[in-house]
Amino acid sequence: MKAVRMYLLLHIVLTVFVPVNTFDPLKATVGIFKNVWQRVFDSKESCDSKWISFNATGLQADLETKLFGQHIASRVILKAVTGFMSNDYPQKPLVLSLHGPCGTGKNFVSQLIAENIYKEGMDSDFVHVFNSLFHFPHKGQIETYKSQFQQWIKGNVSNCARSMFIFDQMEKMPPDLTDSIKPYLDYHNKLGGVSYRKTLFIFISNNGGDFITQKALDFWKEGRGREEIKLRDLEPSLSDSALNNGFWHSTLIDRNMIDAFIPFLPLEKEHVVHCVMAEMKARGMWPDQKVADKVAEDLIYIPKSERVFSKMGCMTVGGKLYFQKEEL
Ligand SMILES: *[C@@H]1O[C@H](CO)[C@@H](O)[C@H](O)[C@H]1NC(C)=O
Repeated sequence: MKAVRMYLLLHIVLTVFVPVNTFDPLKATVGIFKNVWQRVFDSKESCDSKWISFNATGLQADLETKLFGQHIASRVILKAVTGFMSNDYPQKPLVLSLHGPCGTGKNFVSQLIAENIYKEGMDSDFVHVFNSLFHFPHKGQIETYKSQFQQWIKGNVSNCARSMFIFDQMEKMPPDLTDSIKPYLDYHNKLGGVSYRKTLFIFISNNGGDFITQKALDFWKEGRGREEIKLRDLEPSLSDSALNNGFWHSTLIDRNMIDAFIPFLPLEKEHVVHCVMAEMKARGMWPDQKVADKVAEDLIYIPKSERVFSKMGCMTVGGKLYFQKEEL
């Protein structure tokens, strides 16, 4: 209605004040409609609630039904992200450090978070993924990377405060580069005129993976349930290993900069079976339990004698599934 009124008003203004010979009503009308159309149906992603709005129940449902075997991670992540996203004036950016063996869902969880915040999910212009090996391959060019990298973070956050940065393979990131991220993670009102308080940083690494696996194995050997493993059994060692001899090499990092160190547990066969079933559904195949069991059975399990945890988690099930299908 507003648009129609605007149009009428504009029409009157134009017909009254613009000399008849310079005013082309057809052209003007087309122009106005084009403008209205763009405003109403604009499909270009923008930094506003039309494109960015957090769906807490969506995230909860996704964590419960799509992530397998991670009772600690799903609880901590839901709590941290929900708290952060429902606060319009957070004091600092949300910084999550995800740790664990490969194939346990660290990247996948980042995707679930993105999908429940950004309408475009991982394809959003406001979600940025950095892979240390891919983006910063040459050790000799650290200085160039550093300034470029800081420029990227600053530029993107100035564009949209609710940006999300995912750093994959954090343990392979050159220490100088890691250091250059630190200022953004802290409690600052503004840094160089830009506020980073609404930004989400996710750091992913295998750092601490061996420790987590050992702990899970200890529980298993003692006959205790996996779900009995608590965050406090793992978190202190994780933060120590990440801060002291992990990727945050220098002591400059303050423990408080990182909101949560989140452990991902090694996966057992039953979890792998769930992964395969989910993968089959995602590919539009009929989820066949027998195939899933077979794929899971064919993976490598550690330790050799007990075969408790899948060595690669759910990482290779996609390829294995394809192979299975050919065989059947
Ligand atoms: C935002 O980050 C991307 C890398 O993900 C970079 O290519 C781009 O130039 C950055 N944008 C700005 C405005 O700095």
